[in-house]
Amino acid sequence: PQRASPAPTRGGIHTQGRAAIPDKHLRTDRWWLAPLVTALGLLAFIVYSTWRAFANGDYYAAPYVSPFYSPCLAANCVDMQGGADWQLLGDWWKLSPALIILIFPLGFRLTCYYYRKAYYRSFWASPPACAVAEPHGGYTGETRFPLILQNIHRYFFYFAIVVAGILTFDAVLAFRDADGEWGHMGLGTLVLWANIALIWAYTVSCHSCRHIVGGRLKHFSKHPVRYRLWGWVGRLNERHMLLAWSSLVSVAVADLYVYLLASGAFDDPRFF
Ligand code: FES
Repeated sequence: PQRASPAPTRGGIHTQGRAAIPDKHLRTDRWWLAPLVTALGLLAFIVYSTWRAFANGDYYAAPYVSPFYSPCLAANCVDMQGGADWQLLGDWWKLSPALIILIFPLGFRLTCYYYRKAYYRSFWASPPACAVAEPHGGYTGETRFPLILQNIHRYFFYFAIVVAGILTFDAVLAFRDADGEWGHMGLGTLVLWANIALIWAYTVSCHSCRHIVGGRLKHFSKHPVRYRLWGWVGRLNERHMLLAWSSLVSVAVADLYVYLLASGAFDDPRFF
């Protein structure tokens, strides 16, 4: 006798034509661990960065500026002694200047292919893991508002390049001392350089970057330079998740380091 198909009223595992298995899923490993750890990590960063972004203080300890507050575009910034305090917005902006800048790295990370996977699994359970059905009745992917906006990721990539360039400028300025003299270095210089190295690696390993560099080509043999670049970006791209996490941690550590110096918790160890 022919087996009756489930009613075609729901999507996912209840779609017509799928095998009628009574179990919710057949995984017996701890599949929930990865989404749980991811959710805790992201929540910790969200709490920390929200506190720091609204703090509006202790973000500059000469010659170091927190990556959360650079570039400073409002007149209510502290004097950064030649740093990226360009005050283009004048004095009408009264809130924390970090809120203007963080839109760009936040938009870049929110729409990142890796972070999408991370928060779809950890917060939406859509799906929570491979071969574990999502609890939602239907599935529309990223075809409708608001998720269709994820497509603007490639534009955030261009902003991310600009932000990485400015943070590199800040890292160069970290070779000064507190009086602005060049040719000095402290532990903070290393912290800012470690951060910017990871920020660049994460930015360049972006899937959009890989497409910009090597996409839409019919013959790699006719574009040897782009082919070579595509190969390099591809090798970084394989580690995109690792770079996403390490640069997230490094940017928080760089901000925390500047905060501790600016709030007087300790003095920057100087090497020369
Ligand atoms: Fe992750 Fe572009 S895909 S930054």
